[in-house]
Amino acid sequence: MNVVIVGTGYVGLVTGACIATGDHEVTCLDIDEEKIAALSNGVIPIHEPGLDALVEQGVAGGNLAFSTDADAVVPGADVVFIAVGTPAGLNGQPQLDAVFASVDSVATRLGAGATIVIKSTVPIGTNSAVSDRVREVRGDDEISVVSNPEFLRQGAAVSDFLNPDRIVIGAWDEESTQRIIDLYASVIDDSAPRLATDPPSAELIKYAANSFLAVKLSFVNEIADLCEQTGASIAEVTAGMGTDPRIGNAFLNPGPGYGGSCFPKDTSALLRASQGAGAPSRIVAAAIDANRTRRRHMADRVMVHFDAGTTPVVAVLGVTFKANTDDVRESPAIDIVHGLMRAGATVKVYDPEGMEGARRAIGEDPLCGSVEEAVEGADALVIATEWDEFAKLDLRAVSERMKGSMLFDFRNIFDPSDAAEAGMTYYSIGRPIRN
Ligand code: UGA
Repeated sequence: MNVVIVGTGYVGLVTGACIATGDHEVTCLDIDEEKIAALSNGVIPIHEPGLDALVEQGVAGGNLAFSTDADAVVPGADVVFIAVGTPAGLNGQPQLDAVFASVDSVATRLGAGATIVIKSTVPIGTNSAVSDRVREVRGDDEISVVSNPEFLRQGAAVSDFLNPDRIVIGAWDEESTQRIIDLYASVIDDSAPRLATDPPSAELIKYAANSFLAVKLSFVNEIADLCEQTGASIAEVTAGMGTDPRIGNAFLNPGPGYGGSCFPKDTSALLRASQGAGAPSRIVAAAIDANRTRRRHMADRVMVHFDAGTTPVVAVLGVTFKANTDDVRESPAIDIVHGLMRAGATVKVYDPEGMEGARRAIGEDPLCGSVEEAVEGADALVIATEWDEFAKLDLRAVSERMKGSMLFDFRNIFDPSDAAEAGMTYYSIGRPIRN
């Protein structure tokens, strides 16, 4: 098929590069000329493992291209994916301006019989509104609209796309569903179930899945707090819980709270939608509240060890919202840095991939060029992101560079006894304190 992807963010780019591994001609379209020029020269604007190789392969094979010219690429498309951003507005509702602008742009140019697929995460009812809009701008009924939400984790997006747990296809007619099933046939093997449903259900599947995972994390973080107060150990507790297949052992790692461009936005959107529909989700509201409070108070766990009025030097390793991404959006690590600064600490920050985002979020001053520079002379060390590079650190060498000996491992990447052997006082999440 001739496929056009509108939007070259992490979802659009991964979708385009992955679909190009099948029997399709793919063009990624964006209004950002600079980005398209860079992509055409093989420069990938985000850190996403495996993506550069896939883009290179697609371009070399002649079935992946980049363009800003809608007139040139849209008219010949069989399927157009809309994969533009839907950032949260002030009221917590996703902003759909980019979605509708893209829909307007492609609807007027598409040939009869083409399909528009909404990949962006959109509120329930959006596919229906898009379908109405397409009919309105064209004055005909020749274009079908399909919801096909993405379930891609940043940092693992390529493998999530090519080896999905399921493909959700929300359409009003069987022909459109079949078209999307056919499109994926040469891209993703049969082992992933294809779930055909209606568009509103597909839209809600995406929000419900992300919100459920957010609830799971807020719950496990509360259990970790309870562990700290009672002498239980979170790893033992989650191992015991997770062996029950009804619970499952994935997504049970406690931390400084969830972040990123998806969970905070999607939980707020689901909450708004549920309130607006007269079926308010008290559980999602509680998860949001618990997570916000947690992120706000992580810095206190450090500062409580210093006398008021003192100005400790605190090294923070990690600024991205999780490892293997350069994304700092809604990062708990940034909240920690801000909290430490507000409390009077001098903060020294290092991240293997997130320095550019960090510069925008916290300014130049706290940034260090290496782990060594960050920890030099520090009174305390905070692990805010679970990068492999940090987990492999020689804690004895780190401890020798520091002035103090407190290690706050908010991602539980170290073994408590290793930290104690390195002479550090070790505070982690949901585990006993080790000296
Ligand atoms: C999430 C979902 O996992 C994807 O399925 C979904 O497609 C995506 O949102 C989206 O809507 O686009 P992502 O935000 O990339 O993916 O990251 P996750 O790996 O889900 O992590 C989210 C947050 O939870 C991070 O802050 C992470 O550190 C935290 N987390 C995750 C934990 O604290 N503990 C865990 O065990 C897992």
